[in-house]
Amino acid sequence: MKREVAQIDKILNRIIAERRASGRDAGDLLSMLLHAQDEDGSKMTDRQLRDETITLFLAGHETTASTLSWTWWLLAQNPAVEKKLHSELDAVLGVRAPTFDDMPKLVYTGHVITESLRLYPAAWGMARLADEDHEIAGYPVAKGMGVAMAQWVVHRDPRWYDAPEEFRPERWENDLMKRLPKFAYFPFGGGPRQCIGNAFALMEAALILATIARKFRLRLVAGHPVVPLASITLRPRHGVRVTLESRKQITAELPFTGPQSAVAD
Ligand code: HEM
Repeated sequence: MKREVAQIDKILNRIIAERRASGRDAGDLLSMLLHAQDEDGSKMTDRQLRDETITLFLAGHETTASTLSWTWWLLAQNPAVEKKLHSELDAVLGVRAPTFDDMPKLVYTGHVITESLRLYPAAWGMARLADEDHEIAGYPVAKGMGVAMAQWVVHRDPRWYDAPEEFRPERWENDLMKRLPKFAYFPFGGGPRQCIGNAFALMEAALILATIARKFRLRLVAGHPVVPLASITLRPRHGVRVTLESRKQITAELPFTGPQSAVAD
C-alpha cells in the first residue's frame, strides 16, 4: 500500500511542483488552490495541497469513469434508447463536437446519465455515525451507532420508480426529479458532505458521452461477463469490453482516419 501511495504522491507532487515553478495562473482548480490565501496572508503548504488534490484526483476519477462504463453497457443493450440519443446528438450537434454551451440542449443525453446513475450508482452506499440519540421511522438510533444508506437499494424501490429495474431515461422527462421525495435519488449524497463534484461530474459525463456517441456505437464483446463489484465504487468486476463501430452518416461527413474498430475496456 505504501508503494502505491508513494506512486500517487509522485504524480501529484510533480504536477504541483511544475505549476508552482511556472508561476502561471491556468485558471483551473490547482491554480485556485495554489493562490488561495487565508486572512493572514498564509497559503497552503505542499502537504495541504497534496491532500486537497489527492482527494479530488481519487474522488473525481473512478466515479465518473465507472458511470460511463455502466452507461455504455446499458446503451448497448437498449437500442431504442441509443437511437434516441443519436437523434438528439445529430440534431443538436450535426458534425461538430459538443461544448459546454450545448449542455442545455442535450436534454436526453442528460437523462441517459441520470438514469445510469440511478441503476448503477458509482457510490452504491454510504454511512454515518449518529452523534446524538435519534429515531428514524420508529427505529431508535443511539448515539455512536452506524447508519448505512444504500443508493443501490433506494434507487430500485418500486415506490418511487415504475419498472425500477428497467433502463428508461424517458422517466426523467416532465420533471420527475422535482416530484420525487428528496432522498429517493441521491447518487451524490446529500447534506453538508454532498459531493462537491456533482455538477462537474454530470457535465463531464454528458460531454464525454456526447463526444463519443456522436461518432461511434459501442457493441458488447459476446461472452464477456459484466458483473457489478460493490467495491468503494460500484464497478464492473471484469470491465466492459466493447468494439467501436463507426456511425456511417457522421463519418461520411467527417473523414475519420484512425482505426475503424478497436477493443477497449
Ligand atoms: C458520477 C460521479 C460521482 C459520484 C457518483 C460521486 C458521489 C459522491 C458521494 C455519494 C459523495 C458523498 C459521500 C458521503 O457523504 O459519504 C461524494 C463526495 C465527494 N466527491 Fe464525489 N462523486 C462523483 C464525482 C466527483 C468528482 C468529479 C469530484 C471532483 C472533481 C468529486 C469529489 C468529491 C469530494 C471532494 C467529496 C467529499 C466532499 C466532502 O466530504 O465535503 N466527486 N461524491
